[in-house]
Amino acid sequence: MKYDLLTTVEYGGCSAKLSPGELADALKSMPRMKHENLLVDIETHDDAGVYKLNEETALIQTTDFFSPICSDPFTFGEIAAANALSDVYAMGGEPITALNLVMFPSKKIPLEVLKEILKGGMKKVSEAGALIVGGHTIDDYPPKYGLAVTGVVHPDRVITNSLASPGEKLLLTKPIGIGIIVAGKRIEEAKEENYIAALDNMKLLNKEGGTIMQKHKIHCATDITGFSLLGHSLKMAVSSNVTFRINAQKVPLLNGVYELVDMGCIPGACFRNLNYVENDCLLGDNLDYNLKMSMLDAQTSGGLLMCVPPEKVKIVLQELRGTVYPHAEVIGEVVAKSKKVLEVI
Ligand code: CO
Ligand code: CO
Ligand code: CO
Repeated sequence: MKYDLLTTVEYGGCSAKLSPGELADALKSMPRMKHENLLVDIETHDDAGVYKLNEETALIQTTDFFSPICSDPFTFGEIAAANALSDVYAMGGEPITALNLVMFPSKKIPLEVLKEILKGGMKKVSEAGALIVGGHTIDDYPPKYGLAVTGVVHPDRVITNSLASPGEKLLLTKPIGIGIIVAGKRIEEAKEENYIAALDNMKLLNKEGGTIMQKHKIHCATDITGFSLLGHSLKMAVSSNVTFRINAQKVPLLNGVYELVDMGCIPGACFRNLNYVENDCLLGDNLDYNLKMSMLDAQTSGGLLMCVPPEKVKIVLQELRGTVYPHAEVIGEVVAKSKKVLEVI
């Protein structure tokens, strides 16, 4: 019998993040560190820090790690690595090196499990064209895994979450509902084929999405993770000083998500994210409750949300769907800042 990593945690993946409100509170009192070469810092709550080395090259640095989001160790390694690499793609960069971050209880879980996790991580780092150059391990329970990733980007081609401008369309590359499917799996209500599709969705790199953004000179994007579609949209809209209008009916959901929410399978993270966005969000009178909760679901290794000028929407969407994101969709638009930062209709 294979070791089931899901038995080690109550909630894993990006849903195990600190709540966005608590995090903001903890960081509030930290003095801001400034430097002329620091192009992107924590101020805009972006996906990674960016430091200019010279006129040609800027470094992108980011890290992500978490407790298990699935049963199989190799798959967990793949997902954790895809998720950690994602922040480099969201900034428009290419990952070059990565360090393993490992917390593993060697007395409680067979070492074979750790080997599988590391192999899965290495597979994704190789697929990204980057190298694992080291790491750090701590004996700890429950297990956790992730990467610290370094990427590069041309200093003039950095993509951030703070450059959305009115008139642009919002494109989402991957369907959402990961947290809901995993919760459904735990209570044995998620169909196996839907769980497998959710795993594939998490393993899928945002690499091609990043390439397409650079090709079409997109300059504002983020990746959707633990703070949910609405939480990350809120961060982006606030950082850009605009309002995002999202059409709930257009948001692509993984198969089975709507039905699970309908039967009450709603992870706690959805309510935590609701609490975070509520005050800044105008929810339409006719907004479907199940869709609303799905848009608040914590994603692990979610897709890219990009702001695309209207004249480029058709080609960008076509290219995304033609590569590895068949569910890519236009889900809304950027408008001038109004009373609320988010309008969900
Ligand atoms: Co991110
Ligand atoms: Co991250
Ligand atoms: Co060390």
